[in-house]
Amino acid sequence: MEVINNLQDNLDLIRMEILNDNLVIFPTETVYGLGANALSERAVNKIFEVKTRALNNPLIVHLKDKSEITKYAYISNDVEQKLIDNFMPGPFTLILKKKDIIPSCVSAGLDTVGIRIPIDDIAHEFLEGVGVPIAAPSANISSRPSGTKVLDIKGEFENKVNYIIDGGESKIGLESTVVKVIDNIPTILRPGFITYEDIKSLIGSCNISNHVLNMVKDNEHVESPGILYRHYAPKTKCLLVYSSDLNKLKELINNNKTKKTIILGSNKLNDINCYKYLNYGNTVSQIAHNIFSKLRECDKLNGDLIIIEGVKKEGLGLAIMNRLIRTSNFNYIEL
Ligand code: TXA
Ligand code: MG
Repeated sequence: MEVINNLQDNLDLIRMEILNDNLVIFPTETVYGLGANALSERAVNKIFEVKTRALNNPLIVHLKDKSEITKYAYISNDVEQKLIDNFMPGPFTLILKKKDIIPSCVSAGLDTVGIRIPIDDIAHEFLEGVGVPIAAPSANISSRPSGTKVLDIKGEFENKVNYIIDGGESKIGLESTVVKVIDNIPTILRPGFITYEDIKSLIGSCNISNHVLNMVKDNEHVESPGILYRHYAPKTKCLLVYSSDLNKLKELINNNKTKKTIILGSNKLNDINCYKYLNYGNTVSQIAHNIFSKLRECDKLNGDLIIIEGVKKEGLGLAIMNRLIRTSNFNYIEL
């Protein structure tokens, strides 16, 4: 795999790679994407193959600007229009009714398609340069933490993808907020940097899908198929713990730690006696930025358990907890 450091000088090469139905890994403000020409079934199928992704899990289509949206999807009401006007371009994906030009493998057979317009400069240059819409999931093998820096991603896709465009560390570090308007009310299917509070104050109402924090029960209807799968997970077993009371939090950790427990948390836990301690940042934006890379780092430390400090489920904290609950496979204690 070749790392492209200067996209401007290599745009022709990258354009040809995409138009030849090959995959290119590119940076965005959220996480890196594993991109293919969204209009080519052959190219899109390669994403599912290389990522070992379930075929019923739809992909997001990335566009260069807002004027492109109605080429590929229908804007059906004022709420959708308002969300587009306010949150795009940015770390926001809107599920819209799809037009036929998008192959059904992109949307996994659904009649909707997720549309996202990244705000990152290099992502924009890439999308403008290739001239086609780009279907892209996060750049990680299915079930693993999403890729937020070139070094974390490279090993996973070596010999499978020819080019990765280097954009440094992803600024936000968590995937986009995924929203679908249902009966005129925006519904968050996956929380992200654009928060419940942001959407509610714009539209006046906002729902959060049950599955953001809860496990899917048998036979339950799922709006967002991505939620069905094990996700964001290191190889080492994880336990997520949360308490707003520091003494209780420490007690929880001490009662559950093993001989080789790695603690992944903020500064306030750095004095607990354990096998290894890793700081993941001390504010929610630092935690979002670092979390996926730190989880990968934990895997290299040869521990037998990772105890992860949870955060309050508000603002960006809701997105962090949505990911960490899945990281720990619902192995979660709150006191
Ligand atoms: O920030 C992001 O969104 C990153 C970057 C690369 O843009 N992409 C990303 O893609 O996270 P992926 O494939 O890892 O996650 C897409 C999520 C999945 O949970 C999927 O089920 C949901 O969006 N999704 C996509 N299309 C959908 C649709 N038509 N209806 C409901 N959910 C959809
Ligand atoms: Mg993903």
